[in-house]
Amino acid sequence: TWTMANVVEEQVERIRAQVGDRRALCALSGGVDSAVAAALVQRAIGDRLTCVYVDHGLMREGETEQIERDFVAVTGADLRVVDAREQFLGALAGISDPEQKRKTIGREFIRVFEQAALDVVHDAQAHGQTVDFLVQGTLYPDVVESGGGTGTANIKSHHNVGGLPEDLTFTLVEPLRTLFKDEVREVGLQLGLPESLVWRQPFPGPGLGIRIIGEVTQERLDVLRRADAIARAELTAAGLDREIWQCPVVLLADVRSVGVQGDGRTYGHPVVLRPVSSEDAMTADWTRLPYDVLARISTRITNEVAEVNRVVLDVTSKPPGTIEWE
Ligand code: XMP
Repeated sequence: TWTMANVVEEQVERIRAQVGDRRALCALSGGVDSAVAAALVQRAIGDRLTCVYVDHGLMREGETEQIERDFVAVTGADLRVVDAREQFLGALAGISDPEQKRKTIGREFIRVFEQAALDVVHDAQAHGQTVDFLVQGTLYPDVVESGGGTGTANIKSHHNVGGLPEDLTFTLVEPLRTLFKDEVREVGLQLGLPESLVWRQPFPGPGLGIRIIGEVTQERLDVLRRADAIARAELTAAGLDREIWQCPVVLLADVRSVGVQGDGRTYGHPVVLRPVSSEDAMTADWTRLPYDVLARISTRITNEVAEVNRVVLDVTSKPPGTIEWE
């Protein structure tokens, strides 16, 4: 639509006016907001934008590839993918407590991103340039909630080997500050981003790490990723993506139950389907999914994911239940 084309043009002009011929950095999370913000800035300043994506290994099937391949193909962005999967698994080893998991994932994320930011800054300096700007996908509701201020972000990095801590200060570039979520999606489509990215349902920063009840291990992540991919594929095939707010799939990794498959007894794990309807995630109701869709998801998961022998449905509203299990 031409109004959205105008929004894009206007934002591109604003970004050019703010950044001039200097350089910017953007952390891509895999979500809609950071991708659209980055795509706008890329359109405005080209490869003077460097994007960083931290692969923590806690994403769902295909999500890292969507950034690595599709986002780059559409935008032409200069993207650095940091493979931190081993580091996150190592840090999470032995941790089952939900808050401990969240803290650990948050802390590792900051560490890895700081190092990546420092590398980008140093590379620019080697070419006589500075990186003065940090792009963030702040939306209008976040601006209102935080009192409307904008400004700078500081990264204090302790990672330069043998050296002193280094202070990095960036001026924020927030091209989505005037937009609501639905407008951000429209801008994303206008910029050519794939619908699967633009319409992605909310997904928590700590990712699958808080959808494994128990310790996070590589094997458990693989099991959950396969079960989750099946549930998402069936919900999409049934045309339900935009009707449900989100549908976490949760692996009860410390629970086993007896089952039977073929001639043999199994002793596998349950997964929980948690489909919810909501306006803003503050409250939610469990979604009355059609039985045939539930049946297909259950049959496929138990047939195709050997470690899972039971699929259960969460029928709790929020409150009292939260959307996520951790
Ligand atoms: P709860 O579980 O509190 O979730 O009902 C409400 C919404 O927030 C998402 N969520 C998170 N998002 N980091 C995030 O970025 C987190 O640690 C986190 N925890 C929950 C959840 O997916 C739901 O949309």
